[in-house]
Amino acid sequence: MTRKLIIIPAGFFIFLAAFVCFANSHPGKRVSFNQDWRFQLGDVSNGQDVDLNDTQWRRLDLPHDWSIEGEFSEKAPSGTGGGALPGGIGWYRKTFSVPLTAKGKSIFIEFDGVYRNSEVWINDHYLGKRPYGYSSFVYELTQHLIYGGGPNVIAVKVDNSQQPNSRWYSGSGIYRNVWLTTLDPVHIEHWGTYVTTPEVSSESATVVIKTQVQNGSKSPVNLTTIIQDANGRDVTRSTEKGVRAIVDQTLKVPAPVLWSDERPYVYKVVSQLDQGGKIVDRYETPLGIRTFKFDVEKGFFLNGKPLKIRGVCNHHDLGSLGAAVNTRAIERQLEMLKAMGVNGIRTSHNPPAPELLDLTDRMGFIVMDEAFDVWKIQKTKYDYHLDWDEWHKRDLEDMVLRDRNHPSIFIWSIGNEVMEQWNDNPAGGTITKELTAIIRSLDRTRPITSATNGVSRNNKVIMEGDLDLVGTNYHHAQLPEFAKMFPGRAIIGAETNSSLHMRGSYAMPSDEIRRWPRKEEDILKLGPTYECSAYDNSTAPWGSAHEEQWKLVKSHDFFSGMYIWTGWDYIGEPTPFPWPAVSSYFGIIDLAGFPKDPFYFYQSEWTDTPVLHVFPHWNWKAGETIDVVAYYNNADEVELFLNDRSQGTKRKQGDDMHVFWRLKFEPGVLKAVSRKNGQAVLTREVRTAAQASQMVLIPDRKTIKADGVDLSFVTVKIVDRNGVVVPLADNVVKFEVSGDGSIAGVDNGNQISHESFKGKQRKAFHGMALVIVQSKPKAGRIYLKATGENLAPASVVINTR
Ligand code: GAL
Repeated sequence: MTRKLIIIPAGFFIFLAAFVCFANSHPGKRVSFNQDWRFQLGDVSNGQDVDLNDTQWRRLDLPHDWSIEGEFSEKAPSGTGGGALPGGIGWYRKTFSVPLTAKGKSIFIEFDGVYRNSEVWINDHYLGKRPYGYSSFVYELTQHLIYGGGPNVIAVKVDNSQQPNSRWYSGSGIYRNVWLTTLDPVHIEHWGTYVTTPEVSSESATVVIKTQVQNGSKSPVNLTTIIQDANGRDVTRSTEKGVRAIVDQTLKVPAPVLWSDERPYVYKVVSQLDQGGKIVDRYETPLGIRTFKFDVEKGFFLNGKPLKIRGVCNHHDLGSLGAAVNTRAIERQLEMLKAMGVNGIRTSHNPPAPELLDLTDRMGFIVMDEAFDVWKIQKTKYDYHLDWDEWHKRDLEDMVLRDRNHPSIFIWSIGNEVMEQWNDNPAGGTITKELTAIIRSLDRTRPITSATNGVSRNNKVIMEGDLDLVGTNYHHAQLPEFAKMFPGRAIIGAETNSSLHMRGSYAMPSDEIRRWPRKEEDILKLGPTYECSAYDNSTAPWGSAHEEQWKLVKSHDFFSGMYIWTGWDYIGEPTPFPWPAVSSYFGIIDLAGFPKDPFYFYQSEWTDTPVLHVFPHWNWKAGETIDVVAYYNNADEVELFLNDRSQGTKRKQGDDMHVFWRLKFEPGVLKAVSRKNGQAVLTREVRTAAQASQMVLIPDRKTIKADGVDLSFVTVKIVDRNGVVVPLADNVVKFEVSGDGSIAGVDNGNQISHESFKGKQRKAFHGMALVIVQSKPKAGRIYLKATGENLAPASVVINTR
């Protein structure tokens, strides 16, 4: 690949999907193995013993994260970085039977991810160990099973006791999905397809499909590969007779519909094996056809058109659900980010759950898939550096093999701010070379980067490492110089911003940026209440404010785009504060899923959705000087009224992306009107709230699936008698659920709350709280009631189908 221009025509398909609406790699033969496990917290001697009596162990369904059920503690060995929640050891067991008819089949168990150090036994037979908590892995069970009568016992020991081993909240346990796959001995291998589209034009796309066939039998096997369009109609097919091992096929898709962030069109590749006229295996893989390049001067192009990557980094936790994977919870995150105008996701700093990639394929995100936060040199005492020598090759290979067919993946990242980047360390160069070679042996259709905050020519990861793409973290002041610093190299902002905000918290003046000091005593002087302002005026010492950063990215074509740290708040790393803060301030959306004000900044810049967002709230002390800010688009100007008196009409000046007024507070009504060519576009009001007296419950969906998994996220607003949100309300809200559902989590987005995420009550924070309701595997109704002192109760019904 030349460094001048990386052109990557590529069509990929996604590997299997985890739930009904997506394709399944082996439809009908790969089934969820999540139900009905037994769990014991703490070590158990010989926990793998088939005869061990586990009937007293807790019964649960996976995915499961035991850390999120624990209590916050200042003494937690994970530290506040890890969310101040417990780690430890846990055992899982599942007893199951296998019918006699399965004898002669090949049977596999697949774990999407176990944090961490999993060890697995089947019927006392040791299957293996997997230290890295973010890798997906599979074991064959065939030879060790009892068919017909006898019970089989699968036992999993999970050891997350050595702490700290992460800079953020990891969760503990079998926190991703588990699958059981029962195949004919003649089948398509696990992760057994690889699809590329070396030539793409408006007339046709060449689709090259490599299929790995497991064929131990004597009789001939034929492989038919079919490409279907998004409606399931056959587009083209090809049959190869008498196949063994690896089969290469080339098909043409005429007039292909291209995959893009705006129209993520996904085809499906169906691979069918037949033997003696009988179909013995079927393997499905969605396919996206697109071309892209990272141009040294002009940045990123998708399907021939320039496109700024407007991305965010996210960690994997799902707020009050912890690390336990739930597809709807991930989808909700992505839906909100899409609504904000985001078109990119960086899976910082590890391979994500497969469901995330299925969703990014379908929803249209430009994904940077990242392997590691640590190489050989540690960041925390017990982190992955201990496993590096033995496991890094395998873990990296498995990430690429699992993920290389996802059309949404455009960049591989081999690391984040690894310590080898510093001090002219030659290992920065040699390890980078080794890792890029591993990736290129499996996929050459995407550029490889490493996210580096040593943005300099002394950094051997960048200078000697054979990367395709320079990945810069921070250093926004030097951004205009990056092109000169790395001549002839394409550049992406792998990580930017680290702005810090608490939802509903405002420090004035709004136009003065607070870069938080590094020293704890200075931090506590500046932030004794553990708050960071949600005006766009608060950043980490190394960070940048949203408007400040976006102006730079927008105006420098060579800079392909940016992945903001972060889209959502996450548990752990409560920079800039120590305990009692336990979750991050970096998110544009808080931990509960409530947007902070910068959400609307991006929406006004990145979407055509009409925006007029006016803040802050309007409950202040009489006579206080208050900055009122408006983000708007699709309009020329905004006029602001306070109690019907105009405070003036403002237009964005120069390259400004907001307007603001400095007012003396008086209670009443702030009203803003945006206008285009003199015509009103939008009107917004912010009212002074009276006493809190009632609650409003707003479910994100009133009908959910009756599958025991689906969720409705119910926002609780504490309001006055007129329905105005009370901005400082912190009432305790108690929840009762009856009918066909249960409470999966509660939250309020407050970084210093130590209330249990798994409780049945939550204090409101800045007037809001969240309760997550989960269906049961039975159609019906969920009745949710909320009560609170001095508040009229509220209730809502959610249907499950
Ligand atoms: C970066 C790092 C992230 C996060 C962030 C906080 O340097 O890559 O993981 O720690 O800082 O600002």
